[in-house]
Amino acid sequence: MAKMNFTLLWALALICLSRNADGKAKSRETLSDVDRKLKLLNKPAVKSILSDDGDIIDCVDIHKQPAFDHPALRTHVIQMKPSFDARIENLGNRSHIVQTWQRSGTCSEGTIPIRRIRKQDLLRAASLENFGRKLSHNTSNNREQNGSHFIHINNTEVVVSPIVRSTAYLVTVGYNYIGASGDINVWNPKVDLPEDFTSGQIWVRGGPGDNFESIESGWVVNPKLYGDTRTRFFAYWTKDAYNQTGCFDLTCSGFIQTSSHVALGAAIEPCSSRSGPQYYIPIGIFMDTNTSNWWLRYSGTEVGYWPAGTLLFYLNHSSTMVQWGGDVYSQNVRKNPHTKTAMGSGEFASATGLGNACFIQHVRIMDFSRTLKYPEWVSTWADEPYCYSSLNWAPYGVEPVFYFGGPGGGYDYMCP
Ligand SMILES: *[C@@H]1O[C@H](CO)[C@@H](O)[C@H](O)[C@H]1NC(C)=O
Ligand SMILES: *[C@@H]1O[C@H](CO)[C@@H](O)[C@H](O)[C@H]1NC(C)=O
Ligand SMILES: *[C@@H]1O[C@H](CO)[C@@H](O)[C@H](O)[C@H]1NC(C)=O
Ligand SMILES: *[C@@H]1O[C@H](CO)[C@@H](O)[C@H](O)[C@H]1NC(C)=O
Ligand SMILES: *[C@@H]1O[C@H](CO)[C@@H](O)[C@H](O)[C@H]1NC(C)=O
Ligand SMILES: *[C@@H]1O[C@H](CO)[C@@H](O)[C@H](O)[C@H]1NC(C)=O
Ligand SMILES: *[C@@H]1O[C@H](CO)[C@@H](O)[C@H](O)[C@H]1NC(C)=O
Repeated sequence: MAKMNFTLLWALALICLSRNADGKAKSRETLSDVDRKLKLLNKPAVKSILSDDGDIIDCVDIHKQPAFDHPALRTHVIQMKPSFDARIENLGNRSHIVQTWQRSGTCSEGTIPIRRIRKQDLLRAASLENFGRKLSHNTSNNREQNGSHFIHINNTEVVVSPIVRSTAYLVTVGYNYIGASGDINVWNPKVDLPEDFTSGQIWVRGGPGDNFESIESGWVVNPKLYGDTRTRFFAYWTKDAYNQTGCFDLTCSGFIQTSSHVALGAAIEPCSSRSGPQYYIPIGIFMDTNTSNWWLRYSGTEVGYWPAGTLLFYLNHSSTMVQWGGDVYSQNVRKNPHTKTAMGSGEFASATGLGNACFIQHVRIMDFSRTLKYPEWVSTWADEPYCYSSLNWAPYGVEPVFYFGGPGGGYDYMCP
């Protein structure tokens, strides 16, 4: 009897001990992993700038940027300027948007501004591995429900966004594109759940519907990644439909930055307001056919490029689909109750005219003739048109304007 009690006690004690040991070991390991990742992500700064919005911008030697951690890019020689004439037709009015940090300092030539990643940013991520990534699927059950469904637009198979995303866009297919651009109206839509994000952007895509490559840029409100609800300029890439590769900005190795003036992931201001002044960012993504580098152009500045000849396969030659529009990521899209995260200005696309729905104007593509033109064929799409809609306003003979957006759930019985 006594013996049995003793054994039982001992067993209980062991369970407690192993639990403690386990728990401690785990948290210690995780923390050192976090530190290691931070060290990897944040390169030594030549100078650091504290921005009014709380960001720290590190001016990092251009040759020590995160891209060079990529095994395939170790020996990459930076292309400092595109070999095509970068003075591309200036279509819109001058935009008076600034990056908030730019008021507090500048990085010198030879260095690039990188938004510093902090411990709390990493701790917010679902996992260190997924830090900086858009997840394509529900992380808790991904296999059979890999999360995508397909539609056909003019005989081209198009992946409609995965179940965790709701998208409204203008799309063109049917040619080989080596560039795309547009002036994206800038807003600060409401984000409902801390994990949600919402963007206004351009996608340049290539490859098959279920394993496409995509390079993207525009503005985004993404509290989980950036720690606040400011509107920020971003770049994104993936070479496997968001499954394993790619990330926002410079949170992984891939994008090569050349600009010492523009920081990826930095807050931009001012944002547009209802019936008030309208602001927009001119975004262009153009391939240098001599190098296969896809250059990102933001407000007249070459920010850097995605080295498609090394990182990407389909986009190494050209893009076969371009989209312009908005994207809401949430576990609660296509659900009742639906996420209340808004897209664009929060107005449906039918609210045309400046100061209403969010718009993209001066939509252009570039083909191998290297001239910018309005796409010969476009179509609109919205995954959940009763929540977020799209409308291409294109009366004959005038410059078309693409409108997109919506309030998300809870405002209208149509979007629960
Ligand atoms: C490629 O490089 C050559 C020589 O530098 C230049 O003449 C040509 O314009 C470039 N082509 C493109 C598309 O940039
Ligand atoms: C561009 O500028 C003109 C003249 O100042 C103005 O009438 C027009 O509304 C502006 N367009 C936009 C989109 O701000
Ligand atoms: C995703 O699911 C669809 C439909 O079940 C399937 O056709 C497709 O091959 C899957 N894609 C991948 C990458 O597993
Ligand atoms: C499909 O795209 C081609 C251009 O590739 C265009 O000429 C044609 O009109 C489009 N078809 C439809 C049904 O829109
Ligand atoms: C994502 O990548 C993993 C690991 O490479 C692979 O097993 C899985 O099939 C991929 N899923 C999709 C949807 O492509
Ligand atoms: C891109 O194309 C070039 C020239 O055709 C080739 O040498 C290179 O291996 C390709 N890169 C990739 C990643 O496919
Ligand atoms: C994701 O998976 C979790 C757990 O299986 C589930 O509760 C949640 O509803 C799923 N989300 C979506 C969007 O399917």
